[in-house]
Amino acid sequence: MRKPLVIGNWKMNGSRRSIAQVLDGIEPLGRQSGVEVVVCPPFVYLAEVAPRTSAVGLRIGAQHVSEYESGAYTGEVGAAMLADIGCDYVLIGHSERRALFGDGKRVAGQLAATLRAGLKPVLCLGEDAEQRQLGETRSVLLSQLAAAGLVGGRETEQLAGLVVAYEPVWAIGTGNAASPDDAQQAHRWIREALGALGGEVPILYGGSVMAENVAELMVQPDVDGVLVGGASLRVGEFTAICALAAKA
Ligand code: 13P
Repeated sequence: MRKPLVIGNWKMNGSRRSIAQVLDGIEPLGRQSGVEVVVCPPFVYLAEVAPRTSAVGLRIGAQHVSEYESGAYTGEVGAAMLADIGCDYVLIGHSERRALFGDGKRVAGQLAATLRAGLKPVLCLGEDAEQRQLGETRSVLLSQLAAAGLVGGRETEQLAGLVVAYEPVWAIGTGNAASPDDAQQAHRWIREALGALGGEVPILYGGSVMAENVAELMVQPDVDGVLVGGASLRVGEFTAICALAAKA
């Protein structure tokens, strides 16, 4: 039984002040047994948030990372820098990064860089509305896993700490989450595609996760946690999500 994992992706939201308030509110979640809770603030706030989260047993993640180690890459942030300031996790290939910034081509390099730095990559995958309509969900997931170098022949120890997040694009920010059955089906396809690795890798669901729907998603056998966007900035809602995930 994997320990449930709840990750809050704050996206490009917040200020020093509002983030301090959210942290005040969610601090008790670090002491909650039965669930690992991670928050992913924007880059500029990571170094300020990291000491606070580590003091209370919360984990911290970045929303993006460069595939390069260091050097003349203006505007980029390297995995070693993230490790240096106390990051634990890194989101890779979020659908917003794929759609708006062309990151689909970067995921294999980002994954390798993240693992080299000893951080845990959270590889995000998911089909858009049109692909879903055309019945292409499984093939999209397989091709995204293949682009990350995750299909066939990877050794478990090379991928220690890998997390996968299934985030159907049509469910993100719409209030319209995947049904528990559809989420379970997609998670099963992902686990099967990971082969021998599959049993080791936590697979999270993301896309309009709320207190209202988290329990029915979490009881699915292949749903190991959730990746939460909008609701992760609302202290009461996020607290409820974490409590329900711990119980599931
Ligand atoms: P919402 O929870 O706002 O739908 O966002 C999901 C997401 O993109 C998390 O990475």
